[in-house]
Amino acid sequence: MKRAGDIGAIFVLTGAGISAESGVETFRDVGGIWSKVRLEDVATPEGFARDPQKVHAFYNARRAGLAAVDPNPAHRALARLEAEFPGQLTLVTQNIDDLHERAGSKTVIHMHGELVRSLCARCGARADAPGDLSTTLACGACGKVGGMRPDVVWFGEMPYHMDEITERLISADLFVSIGTSGAVYPAAGFVAEARSAGISTLELNLEPSEGSFLFDEARHGLASALVPAFVDEMIGAARSS
Ligand code: NAD
Ligand code: APR
Repeated sequence: MKRAGDIGAIFVLTGAGISAESGVETFRDVGGIWSKVRLEDVATPEGFARDPQKVHAFYNARRAGLAAVDPNPAHRALARLEAEFPGQLTLVTQNIDDLHERAGSKTVIHMHGELVRSLCARCGARADAPGDLSTTLACGACGKVGGMRPDVVWFGEMPYHMDEITERLISADLFVSIGTSGAVYPAAGFVAEARSAGISTLELNLEPSEGSFLFDEARHGLASALVPAFVDEMIGAARSS
């Protein structure tokens, strides 16, 4: 891996694991979300068409849960990294929570959408989501009834901002993957793309992810310890170079 002081552009990808210590459930850990609810019922367009109320209830509960959780030291460390290296950090998250923003990160690319936003399936208008989206019968933009859904990317749908993400990934100097199992594409393919572009790669995760073997370096442990230590290392090296 390149010496931290030589690093120009840093591309960070985060997954559910960075929010785990804030009390937000992950998806594929033991007891994770997909062991309790069928993703086909609540995280696919077909599931929404079949039973929109079930999907609204699933995301309403997760939205309500956000009020009870706070960013953890890992989120705050990435906000510090962004402040220390203005314009050099790209932060892409698979997470739909708002913990990066609440920790102080100014620019966050949500490739799977945001729990706190709503989307009109009829006209594409987006808005801040009220607590209970299912009670928002009519779209505020087109006025049509019954098209409101969480602004979240479901299985089978294309993630958001992929052109910008790819452009920033292949022009980075360092790719860091934090708290993701590497189970879902296209995010799971970012490390291979980075390697083929000759970019240094680092994994910070509780345990080896599905793509761990592809990383130049992998550090395993709690994000709340690994991420602040990584940020201190980057800042220290930049200041001493
Ligand atoms: P995928 O690799 O995400 O999943 C392929 C299929 O495998 C899915 O259709 C799903 O039915 C099944 N699957 C995945 N994980 C599973 C699990 N733990 N248990 C049982 N079945 C599982 O590919 P995709 O379907 O093409 O997804 C397209 C995009 O949607 C992905 O890029 C992903 O980023 C996004 N996505 C977002 C969410 C969300 O909640 N925000 C959920 C899923 C997918
Ligand atoms: N510190 C670091 N890593 C952690 C911690 C922690 N405290 N707790 C869990 N992890 C790791 C787990 O080891 C696991 O590898 O975080 C990862 C969480 O993986 P998943 O539950 O699969 O979540 P994620 O990778 O974000 O899922 C990707 O799948 O269902 C879709 O759209 C959904 O965005 C999600 C995508």
